[in-house]
Amino acid sequence: MGGKGAHYRVAPGGEVAGELTVPGDKSISHRSLMLGAIAEGQTEITGFLAGADCLSTLGALGALGVRIERPQAERVRIEGVGVEGLRGSSSALDMGNAGTAMRLFMGLLAPQRFDSVLVGDESLTRRPMERVAGPLRQMGARIETREGRPPVVIHGTPELRGIDYRLPVASAQVKSAVLLAGLRAAGRTRVTEPAPSRDHTERMLSAFGVSVVRDGPSVSIDGGQRLKGTAITVPADFSSAAFFMVAGCLAAERGLLLRNVGVNPTRTGLLTMLKRMGADIRLHPHGAPDGRGEPIADIEVHKSRLRGIEVPEELVPLSIDEFPAFFIAASLAEGETLVRGAQELRVKESDRLAAMAEGLTTLEVENRLLEDGLWIRGGTGFSGGIIESHGDHRIAMAFTIAGLAARGPIEIRDVANVATSFPGFLELARTAGLSIEAA
Ligand code: S3P
Repeated sequence: MGGKGAHYRVAPGGEVAGELTVPGDKSISHRSLMLGAIAEGQTEITGFLAGADCLSTLGALGALGVRIERPQAERVRIEGVGVEGLRGSSSALDMGNAGTAMRLFMGLLAPQRFDSVLVGDESLTRRPMERVAGPLRQMGARIETREGRPPVVIHGTPELRGIDYRLPVASAQVKSAVLLAGLRAAGRTRVTEPAPSRDHTERMLSAFGVSVVRDGPSVSIDGGQRLKGTAITVPADFSSAAFFMVAGCLAAERGLLLRNVGVNPTRTGLLTMLKRMGADIRLHPHGAPDGRGEPIADIEVHKSRLRGIEVPEELVPLSIDEFPAFFIAASLAEGETLVRGAQELRVKESDRLAAMAEGLTTLEVENRLLEDGLWIRGGTGFSGGIIESHGDHRIAMAFTIAGLAARGPIEIRDVANVATSFPGFLELARTAGLSIEAA
């Protein structure tokens, strides 16, 4: 299976049950590769996400002269080259579908002594990059985009200066890019967020021995610090587990257990939202997080009667990747659900508001697409139908789960990109109880 023509055909109904472990966290896997590469000494990663996005980061670091071994698919050993040890690549660095890779590399490569060119696939080439290039230019970086989008040309400038930057939107990618550039800038770099976004970069920098100062909505870092190689255990990706949390709410008569999931509070807005809808979800935490590592829990979910909610805007950045799954839950919830303040969803791997509204309409769910959100009247279930995923992994997986509450088969088109974040999704979904044919 592969290529643009790949599709899933999901049989209607069924039950999910058992214990599942979804693959490693995408955000944490990207960061562990990048920080391991610029650290001194060896970094060992276990639970690495061997999905196409993280493999783009791995390949790019190889092209920048970093020795990386993969004794197993989910185990990576990096010989760190130090903050000044990357070497220029003679060819463009291909980020594939990975927005995180492109934006974090912009921060990492802006202060180098060599130039770099970053390219991506069709979807990534449509995504905005000025949100990162802008603050980096304020630091003295020389970066060109093509009308704000990739390809991104970086003229390496080792003399960056620290800035005090107020993010216009809550974005962990922008925050992380500025902090990574700040590692090599003169003086202090401070980033202030309008609302909390995922803090994996801050936590992981601390784990590599970098002093990161948090002060309310601000994070500061002093330039000139070095990183020390370390061991990183990547938890299972909350964003991948999200599809099975919703599947559980829809159809886990006997319960479903998701093991070792990362439950960093900057990622778990979906839990809050589902609980407010009346979902029966319980967390079983492992150990006590030390503030540098990542909190982990098993998540137990049971079939639940959901009711519609109005989602508070402050939960949006804390569940930014989970809306495709959430909208499926909202379609099954009795009554109305309203999400506003979520315009960022329009610049993800696809325009996720438009893609979800279109798919829900196909499946006869009453909805209204808003400039910055979506309104849904739920409770009527899904008809069958043919869904365009727009090449977006999360749209494809969300509509796969919808099959559990459908009256007819759902065919989902263009699903090859599921492998960017969730290799083995099809097999795991079948193990859980879904009936899916792939072609
Ligand atoms: C990510 C941050 C989020 C998220 C993306 C991964 C990260 O993007 O949507 O999938 O790893 O930092 P924004 O920070 O741009 O919202």
